[in-house]
Amino acid sequence: EAYNVAVVGATGAVGRTMIATLEERKFPVAELRLLASSRSAGSELPFHGKPVTVQELKNDSFQDIDIALFSAGASTSRQFGPKAVEVGCVVIDNSSAFRMEPGIPLVVPEVNPDAIGSEPGIIANPNCSTIQMVVALKPLHDRFRVRRVIVSTYQSVSGSGQKAIDELTHQSKSALNCEPLVKNVYPHQIAFNCLPHIDTFLDNGYTKEEMKMVNETRKIMGDDSIHVTPTTVRVPVMYSHSESIYVETDEEIDVAEVRRVLSAFPGVSVVDAPEKNEYPLAIDAAGRDEVMVGRIRKDLANPKALNLWVVADNLRKGAALNAVQIAEALIR
Ligand code: A2P
Repeated sequence: EAYNVAVVGATGAVGRTMIATLEERKFPVAELRLLASSRSAGSELPFHGKPVTVQELKNDSFQDIDIALFSAGASTSRQFGPKAVEVGCVVIDNSSAFRMEPGIPLVVPEVNPDAIGSEPGIIANPNCSTIQMVVALKPLHDRFRVRRVIVSTYQSVSGSGQKAIDELTHQSKSALNCEPLVKNVYPHQIAFNCLPHIDTFLDNGYTKEEMKMVNETRKIMGDDSIHVTPTTVRVPVMYSHSESIYVETDEEIDVAEVRRVLSAFPGVSVVDAPEKNEYPLAIDAAGRDEVMVGRIRKDLANPKALNLWVVADNLRKGAALNAVQIAEALIR
């Protein structure tokens, strides 16, 4: 059986990766409908070697579509997601619009596949930083019970979309040429800099991105007792997010056992041979599907705590791949 699939936000950084991922994983696509704003209607993107024309997203765009992958921002999802569901489409939404709504499944297939349910309308794809963290935490939670997590992120600019990739490129060239830098996407220069600011600040002093890591982790892991303390940072890296994660557990940590449970977990690749200078790197994770985990070590003071370095391609496992994996689980 083959399915009619729509990609909303097809021309964006995540949308293009969704198209590539559907192709690579040989998802059974009958018709691929590419949707974006009027700005890119009429342009063409390749799928399995053939050009597909991008159409303007409209109210009637979802006629005959079985599965729609949305990645065009929360307001587009709020406006068009329910319209797609009305005509019988399952929506897999990469935006933050519906993630924390009770009754909307928030799914990482390796972690909580059963959350999908039998009659889904909208299924939410979690935040990129949260996805790669919970993939690493889940096997530890099952074995040692995770109580508390302190995480600092090193997030690539592709998480802010194609405009941010262009901005880092241009600013880097300008900086090296001693020319004035142009800032559009971020409030400060991102080239040769780190910004402890992702998404907007809230009254509690944390950013929305940080609170996504707090709240989405609990919902995906199905455990409200897990405490997450995040600091999210944008760094001048094109692709892949890196995370330094300190984990406190109920049970005493045995590092050999940590390696065993992580290595056995689907979607995880343990890269941890510091004596050979081998540890997860953003440039190695880019273009790959696995969540890479390394620098595995016990805390120096607390026998029930460890540190990890976790890296994944934010456009793939953090967005497009996770969405396509949800679609695969749906049709199974
Ligand atoms: P377009 O290219 O026509 O602007 P990114 O995250 O890389 O910036 O990509 C955002 C994606 O969302 C693009 O495909 C963009 O289309 C699409 N998009 C943004 N706003 C809308 C909208 N109001 N309606 C439909 N698509 C939109």
